[in-house]
Amino acid sequence: MEVCRLGVLISGSGTNLENIAINIEEGRIPARITVVISDREDAYGLVRARNHGLHAVFVDPQSFPDRVSYDRELIRILRENSVDLVVLAGYMRLVSPEFVEAFRNRILNIHPALLPSFPGTSGVADALAYGVKVTGVTVHFVDEGLDTGPIILQEAIPVLPGDDVESLHQRIHEVEYRLYPEAIRLFCQGRLKVEGRRVVILDERED
Ligand code: GAR
Repeated sequence: MEVCRLGVLISGSGTNLENIAINIEEGRIPARITVVISDREDAYGLVRARNHGLHAVFVDPQSFPDRVSYDRELIRILRENSVDLVVLAGYMRLVSPEFVEAFRNRILNIHPALLPSFPGTSGVADALAYGVKVTGVTVHFVDEGLDTGPIILQEAIPVLPGDDVESLHQRIHEVEYRLYPEAIRLFCQGRLKVEGRRVVILDERED
């Protein structure tokens, strides 16, 4: 099977990144992470990446005049590393339209809520504050909007009495660690077909 080259973008702890790396190492995803990019120098995900022998770089947004030129540098690095699929894993910046165009239908994001509810950077806290009884995890393709792209996988998670942001996020993480590798595997197997807003999951080929 052809190996799919991944570029992973992070801003923080990087537990999803590490979980994806482990899934690859253990042969569950036919892929290779060719580069990890962080927009924060202190992101612990950079340490996790290097612990797994991955090429990991910090690209400082402050060194660029605007989002467009920052994203151009990211596009350059991702292309230099022959990336087929861009994986946003706790990456807290909105990517520019040019970035979306450069990797159209080849950018995935994971979001800690059931989109279109609670988009943005505090999905867990926002759902909790709203008082919902059910929240969840969404994996979607990235388009020009804020968390608006076609949905690939979703899973619901009940909010329990007494939950705080930390306890709820912990259960969300457990689901993320299953859903994100699954979505990446489907992409790498060529089984995701985008039809307008809908993502069709094709059956596994028997060859
Ligand atoms: C994850 O829960 C992810 O869903 C969320 O950030 C966390 C990153 O954790 N992403 C967003 O909120 C994107 N808007 P990690 O760094 O440990 O993988």
